[in-house]
Amino acid sequence: MTADPTASRTAPPANSLAGTLLAWYDRHARTLPWRVLPADRDAGEIVDPYRVWLSEIMLQQTTVQAVKPYFEAFTRRWPDVRDLAEAHEEDVMKAWAGLGYYSRARNLKACAETVAREHGGHFPDTEAGLLALPGIGPYTAAAIAAIAFDRPAAVVDGNVERVISRLRAIETPLPAAKPEIRIATAELVPNERPGDFAQAMMDLGASLCSPRRPACALCPCVDACAAHKAGIAETLPKKAPKQPKPTRRGMAFVLRRGDGAVLLRRRPPKGLLGGMSEPPVSAWGETATQDDLAQVPDAIARLTPEWQRIAGDVRHTFTHFHLELAIWRAELKGTPDAPDGHWWSDPQDLDSEALPTVMRKALAAGLRV
Ligand code: ADE
Repeated sequence: MTADPTASRTAPPANSLAGTLLAWYDRHARTLPWRVLPADRDAGEIVDPYRVWLSEIMLQQTTVQAVKPYFEAFTRRWPDVRDLAEAHEEDVMKAWAGLGYYSRARNLKACAETVAREHGGHFPDTEAGLLALPGIGPYTAAAIAAIAFDRPAAVVDGNVERVISRLRAIETPLPAAKPEIRIATAELVPNERPGDFAQAMMDLGASLCSPRRPACALCPCVDACAAHKAGIAETLPKKAPKQPKPTRRGMAFVLRRGDGAVLLRRRPPKGLLGGMSEPPVSAWGETATQDDLAQVPDAIARLTPEWQRIAGDVRHTFTHFHLELAIWRAELKGTPDAPDGHWWSDPQDLDSEALPTVMRKALAAGLRV
């Protein structure tokens, strides 16, 4: 006979909502690279706050699937917060390239430095202490406090918003419903195993309690679900209509020289895609033209290449706008030096440049034969 894996754990009463959800989590928790499963923790595996923090920063605005390879690469290269604190920012930006929302990468480095320098390499173990660190907002502070330190914090991400708005049949549209959802979540958080509870809510939202067709017949919480009882689970959460995004347009200039190297430059440290690399681009605007070579930046106009527009613009969507980049290509003879603030990158080195996704798309279009 095998031992009951949950027998040694203190847990909320099995007949409470938290107890029901935790029993479901013990059976169905997703295996994730940053997660210590309940049975492994019971067997002595330690939850590492560094890994919890790193995963939570990476998972903001990004899917679990997209994060996995980045998390593995970061923890292999920088296994401890002190290693990351000592890394070169440029290397961190390169390793982050493709994950988006690049201010997170800069804050990541700043946070690692603060933890290493001011906290002896140990993350603070309270929500308030975590909130004081660079790049850690209320959601992330709550998630780390709960998952890494088993603090009874209310952890509300998009999945949890959906689960709670259904459980309590909250019909107020998002984002106005956020305070109500937070209070309803806090009421459910148990004093025992609050970290597992938070992760169980996330997993339920990511699996059974899905946006379009929730699998209510399989849900451990179905008897407690007010939306299911009222037959409105699929309609929740309600969302206020989104403001349509404007479209900005611009030009990207993909310049190669005789040996095939491509010209790159670095974006200013602050602002959109701050500190990341790119081929030279024009200013972007809603009324910008995409056929005006007066917009070639001075530094490269001086090289007087002959530009050719490539068919097929590159499209990319940011948080607040769509971007359409017209791609212009030119070749220079010989191997001239790069203008100030620019460098030549060998095509085989492009993978390891700190290029955001939109700039990778622009280069791919400009380099296509
Ligand atoms: N989304 C945000 N944080 C998460 C976590 N710790 N596990 C799974 N999905 C998440």
